[in-house]
Amino acid sequence: MLNKEYIDKIKELKSKTNAIILAHYYVNPEIQEIADFLGDSLALSQQAKKTDADTILFCGVHFMAETAKILNPTKKVILPDIRTGCTLADLSKVEDIEKWKNSFNNPFLISYINCSTKLKAISDVICTSSNAEKIVKSIPKDKTILFATDKNLGSYLSKKLDVKMHVWKDYCRVHNTFSEEHIKELINEHPNADIAAHPECPEHILNYAKYIGSTTGIINYINKSERKEFIILTEPGIKYQLEKNSTDKQYFFVKNECGQNNICINMKKNTIEKIIEALENLSPEITIEEELRLKALKPLELMLELS
Ligand code: 13P
Ligand code: SF4
Repeated sequence: MLNKEYIDKIKELKSKTNAIILAHYYVNPEIQEIADFLGDSLALSQQAKKTDADTILFCGVHFMAETAKILNPTKKVILPDIRTGCTLADLSKVEDIEKWKNSFNNPFLISYINCSTKLKAISDVICTSSNAEKIVKSIPKDKTILFATDKNLGSYLSKKLDVKMHVWKDYCRVHNTFSEEHIKELINEHPNADIAAHPECPEHILNYAKYIGSTTGIINYINKSERKEFIILTEPGIKYQLEKNSTDKQYFFVKNECGQNNICINMKKNTIEKIIEALENLSPEITIEEELRLKALKPLELMLELS
């Protein structure tokens, strides 16, 4: 996998810059291997808040690094490739959502963490896929609840919790495009397999799942299960941790509607070479204008308090 020369170089640069490497499970295995901390969006933001490192190198997508910067204004937050956007966060335009919010009486806007800093700044609270249920349940009953950005997560929560919510229309291009045909084929081939899904999938796909949860939730569920075969509806990057945890289980990742492996190409833009370059130059750096950061900090801090 990763040669010793690279590992030593990263270690040396990390100690020189007092840096910590935070990574999401969707990045390539060699990066998961050198990360100091791996997690879902909630755990990554909690870790970003409590680290005493001077530099946070974020191997994930842009909104994750921005979240770390909102929580840590005095630290340097660097992203190995500044073009690692999230299709969902990039789709949701703050101007449109602000207009939508203002059209309601007594609105309370919950925004999924997969969104821009500008959108966080006009939100009342932020949520991730692992704390969303808790957050929705905490909203005062007299409020008109609005949910942005992910329509699938919003609809899933509204139905599961039986809470009336107005849901914005955007979606993740990875999770919204799983092939139902391929799920059926896999069920036919592996009738004893358990099915786990991320709540960013649409309802007709979630209907097949026995377990629905965040990336960490899916990994923990599978680790604890007695079953030997699993059909999985999220990005296949999590396979590396699953295989590390148990070698006697089999994982089948569902393809997209074009018959391809359903990968998040932005997550894969993080590479070892770019990590070394970023640590050498302490760049590309995430910067956020202070007035905007303070506005975005409020709903994020409320989320961490409620989590
Ligand atoms: P998690 O918070 O579950 O890791 O999800 C992040 C994400 O972007 C899923 O597509
Ligand atoms: Fe964004 Fe989808 Fe990639 Fe997650 S999988 S980071 S929601 S584009």
